[in-house]
Amino acid sequence: MTVTALIVAAGSGTRMGGDVPKQYATIAGKSVLAHAVDALASHPRISSVRVVIGSGQQEMAATALAGRDVGDVVIGGAQRADSVRAGLAAIGDGVVLVHDAARPFCPHDVIDRLLEALDGADGAVPALPVADTLAKGLATADQLVDRDRLWRIQTPQAFHVEDLRYAIDEAGRGHTTDESSVMIAAGLKVALVEGSASLDKLTTPEDWRRAEALQESKMISRTGLGFDVHAFEGTGPLMMGGIEIPHERGLAGHSDADVVLHSITDALLGAAGKGDIGQHFPPSDPQWKGAASDIFLAHAANLVRDDGGIIDFVDCTVICEAPKVGPYRQAMQSRVAQILKLPSSAVSIKATTTEQMGFTGRREGIAAQAVATIRVPR
Ligand code: CTP
Ligand code: MG
Repeated sequence: MTVTALIVAAGSGTRMGGDVPKQYATIAGKSVLAHAVDALASHPRISSVRVVIGSGQQEMAATALAGRDVGDVVIGGAQRADSVRAGLAAIGDGVVLVHDAARPFCPHDVIDRLLEALDGADGAVPALPVADTLAKGLATADQLVDRDRLWRIQTPQAFHVEDLRYAIDEAGRGHTTDESSVMIAAGLKVALVEGSASLDKLTTPEDWRRAEALQESKMISRTGLGFDVHAFEGTGPLMMGGIEIPHERGLAGHSDADVVLHSITDALLGAAGKGDIGQHFPPSDPQWKGAASDIFLAHAANLVRDDGGIIDFVDCTVICEAPKVGPYRQAMQSRVAQILKLPSSAVSIKATTTEQMGFTGRREGIAAQAVATIRVPR
């Protein structure tokens, strides 16, 4: 039986607020939508994942879904039910798991329970008992609500596609917050299975803070060290920190000989445990001749992020007698931050001389040391 996960992500996240709709904002270095897709796509019984997005969200969705196999995105509608309907029109028969992108951390055992329950029912939904005392008001005792008979219903919700299509047609276009209510209204049988607190929907900024703290507590900090040297050769200018710096001498190197970018690249690769710059960009390979080193740095940053990592901070010390680094410090920090897609406050560039001692003191070349601090999933 084909099992398709249909993730609705076409909302605008009004209650959450923020610069972008909540499904495109990141938690622990990854967008909420990408978390939701990965949590479902990694389940062995799910054959394919499709995503419904809002009109005008194509660019944000493409960034969030990069490298993920979700076919063409479907454009949703004004209400969640419209988005589900649009998604259902784009998938084939079999079983569908309708899921909110705003519930990014779906445990596999919930999916196991849903698919098992579907053998004996037309639909299955995850639910949790209500823990708080419930009341419509506190004026009279009959305003208290007996919580023993109440459930919080979550997603993903599992249905046979044909049943859900039938139920939605029967229900017409009335307002519904989920598909189980539509199924029940059409006289179909929906089973409750045990849900999970990990499936609680991210609706308000407080939900967000709690989810962020929990995910980040599952990460560990790692530090990497980088070092690079290039000898002076020919005439300047030279490249340092991704910007051109006027100097009477240039630097020798296979690429553009940017010691700052090379040392930070190696620091990031070190923190990620991914070898060194020479392994990724062999000097023997002619394609890197004269290459702009921002390619190397951006590659290292992508490797960290592909593993769900977060780059917290990079610090670099340039070691030379000349040129003077001070006047270019801010511009170098901004450029490095831009390449790393970080705020400038996450990048530090410093400089020192070696008091005219050693090779840098004799003005034979420039050295740079860097440290990168990242967080990666445990
Ligand atoms: N959703 C959707 N299409 C809509 C509205 C909502 O696909 N027209 C999706 C949301 O993207 C979310 C899920 O349905 O993944 C649950 O909706 P909700 O939590 O209400 O998200 P938003 O509608 O985006 O938030 P708000 O109601 O605060 O604006
Ligand atoms: Mg909504």
